[in-house]
Amino acid sequence: MTELAHFDLGTPLPAPEPSPEMLARLAVRRSAPSQGLAGPGPSEAQLDLILRLGARSPDHGKLTPWRFVVLGRQTRLEIAERLAAMAVVKELPAKATAVLAKLTTAPVTVLVVSTARPASKPEWEQVLSAGAVCMNIEHAAAALGFASSWITDWYSYDSEAAALFGVTANEKVAGFIHIGTPVEPLLERERPDISAITTRLP
Ligand SMILES: Cc1cc2nc3c(=O)[nH]c(=O)nc-3n(C[C@H](O)[C@H](O)[C@H](O)COP(=O)(O)O)c2cc1C
Repeated sequence: MTELAHFDLGTPLPAPEPSPEMLARLAVRRSAPSQGLAGPGPSEAQLDLILRLGARSPDHGKLTPWRFVVLGRQTRLEIAERLAAMAVVKELPAKATAVLAKLTTAPVTVLVVSTARPASKPEWEQVLSAGAVCMNIEHAAAALGFASSWITDWYSYDSEAAALFGVTANEKVAGFIHIGTPVEPLLERERPDISAITTRLP
């Protein structure tokens, strides 16, 4: 695996240079269906790198308003069983149990937890920072040759369910980032018309 540089505090960083390779990757970036993610997944060393690159995200006030929970498959299978039972007790629609397949299939899952709280910078910006972390985790995984899927689903928004993953009442799920190797080619989907959503001002 490529060893990426660490930089000491205060060291001038390399100037950005054009990267056709990065542009080409961004141009075809796509999520995988999480139920279609098989092994191999990232090794421990690759996962360390993915987390390090994910944490290299914009963060107003350097609050680090997020944390990670690395969920192995065994833990996810156990929690999914408890979620399935919870779905019955809560009388949720059958879909609530069906979507648990998205949680359990991938070889590796990183739960990004938003720990946003009243602080020197707005909570909204702290939440946005957690989203940026999720995206950078996906980019890092892709750069290592993996596909990924950013999922929330009902158990992210049910405090009792989220607590099974260790998410506290003061926290929110930013996303479960499932990482692995796609079993099928990823198909393109429709993309927004940029001109329709862009205002250009002189
Ligand atoms: C915050 C967030 C939560 C998401 N949660 C789900 C989800 O629970 N289930 C799902 O099928 N897709 C979910 N998605 C969408 C997928 O991650 C993915 O972005 C979508 O399928 C579009 O594919 P693309 O990333 O290839 O453009 C979520 C996306 C975001 C940003």
